[in-house]
Amino acid sequence: MKKLAFLILLAACQPKPTVQTIPETGPTGKSAMVASAHPLATKVGVQIMKDGGNAFDAAVAVKFALSVVYPQAGNIGGGGFAVFRMANGSVGALDFREKAPLAASRDMYLDEVGEFTEDLSTIGHQAVGVPGSVAGMWELHQEYGKMEWQSLVQPAIDFAFEGFSLTKNGASILNHYQDEFIEANKYTPWMINKDGWKEGMTVIQRELTATLGFIRDSGRDGFYKGIVGDQLIKEMMRGNGIITQEDLDTYEPVWRDPVVSTYKGHKIIGMPPPSSGGIALAQLLYGAEKFDLGDLSHNSSEYINLMAELEKRVYADRTIHLGDMDFYDTPQSTLLSPNYLDERFDGIAMNSMTSSIEITNGVIPLKESEQTTHFSIVDSEGNAVSITTTLNGSMGSKVMVKGAGFLLNNEMDDFSAKPGSPNMFGLLGSEANAIEPGKRMLSSMTPTIVEKEGQLRIVAGTPGGSTIITSVFQTILNVIDYDMTMQDAVNAPRAHHQWMPDMLYIEKGRLSESLINELEQIGHEINERKYIGKMDCILVRDDATLEGGSDRMRGDSYSEGF
Ligand code: DON
Repeated sequence: MKKLAFLILLAACQPKPTVQTIPETGPTGKSAMVASAHPLATKVGVQIMKDGGNAFDAAVAVKFALSVVYPQAGNIGGGGFAVFRMANGSVGALDFREKAPLAASRDMYLDEVGEFTEDLSTIGHQAVGVPGSVAGMWELHQEYGKMEWQSLVQPAIDFAFEGFSLTKNGASILNHYQDEFIEANKYTPWMINKDGWKEGMTVIQRELTATLGFIRDSGRDGFYKGIVGDQLIKEMMRGNGIITQEDLDTYEPVWRDPVVSTYKGHKIIGMPPPSSGGIALAQLLYGAEKFDLGDLSHNSSEYINLMAELEKRVYADRTIHLGDMDFYDTPQSTLLSPNYLDERFDGIAMNSMTSSIEITNGVIPLKESEQTTHFSIVDSEGNAVSITTTLNGSMGSKVMVKGAGFLLNNEMDDFSAKPGSPNMFGLLGSEANAIEPGKRMLSSMTPTIVEKEGQLRIVAGTPGGSTIITSVFQTILNVIDYDMTMQDAVNAPRAHHQWMPDMLYIEKGRLSESLINELEQIGHEINERKYIGKMDCILVRDDATLEGGSDRMRGDSYSEGF
């Protein structure tokens, strides 16, 4: 009690840029740590490592567990990215992002008069990209796993067969999408419940049990071929989807070189295209160092304004220059070169803002969604894995494969269906991200690893669509510049600007009125959202202890170590 009173007094004596929260430290461990969006999945990862598995084994097991207990985003019908750092310091990245089906075409979401028909790319069978998650986990395990594949899929099968207890958030998300489930499916999948879902209800998924059984026994072929592959193709036919068996047979994840940049002597290891995350984060950190952002009072109006100025320019670059580099010549080295960035950030001034229209143009709304999912894992050898995976929107296309019990993504909406027409995150796109058969859609997912003086320091990532990059950016600054614990860095209020719309997003109730007034005085149009991002991170402290930082405040996230 005394400690609490002291902390409140301490908070009261500080300058008050933000609404104060009580300092907090996340769970610690000497050996290994998992931070994920659901306690049951985190516990699976911890147990795998206690049983002798490494971080890659744990990642595979956590991923499959999330596909059962966190259906809104954990998935086998979606895709994602892994960034990893081995204990010996070598780094790598695996791209298991969905691909446009071979029958996809550039104008497939435009109507007769050339207008973008948004619903087609967000709900139902035509919104679905060729899933990459199972192939990705298989590839990761083949290359780096130590334990038997079967034992990594089994915990997920147990959850599906025996059932798991719904959290309050889990129940409310299922209830929220009832109409869409009815609209998107030609039969009645288990999520449709006219009496409503309630916290504590047990969810048993018999069909998913069988599907995961095939994956356990036949690896990637258990998903892309045989009964499950057939069920997926039949589901496509039922709803005019365009994925064929050839799409499933030819899907391959791709090993990529991470984007490696620096920030104040730290090495930042990020995801390259088709994610925009690594490049955008590197650009933001370059700007933060150039303008000494970290010397400003944390979350003051100067700080938030400078961040927003950097973000506008970086998101405008994303719009024009970034796409799947297997199809489009992304100018990565130019975008990261100091000369280019110095010129790009020229004209940024403290306490004044450039309107987005002066940077270039477009107008759009931004949907609120935190339904991708990220997890961070460090094992006792010191290997680190950072994975962000998604169905895109919450519950993806809302289509559940009949007989196979898993949801399909709506990742096709991440393409730029028409230049100047925003996607569901309000993001604009260009030629670089136009639809082509077999191409991967541009992503904002930013699984990241930070190294300090040759040692692992931070493993980080989050959902949040377009806000992913800026959430990771702020969390890294919180640790490096403001010396926060991992938990405080995750808890801290976040702000976001994405160039278009020209709006500064802040979290409701987390910034003081006077600060909001100051930002409005500078010229920002403020838009309040409930949450920005939902981080699951790990910090290696100076004494080598691991600290988990999971966004319990913004969701069910949970970290645990030993
Ligand atoms: O890849 C992307 O950037 C999006 N599909 C991520 C979607 C997302 O984060 C949704 N939840 N917040």
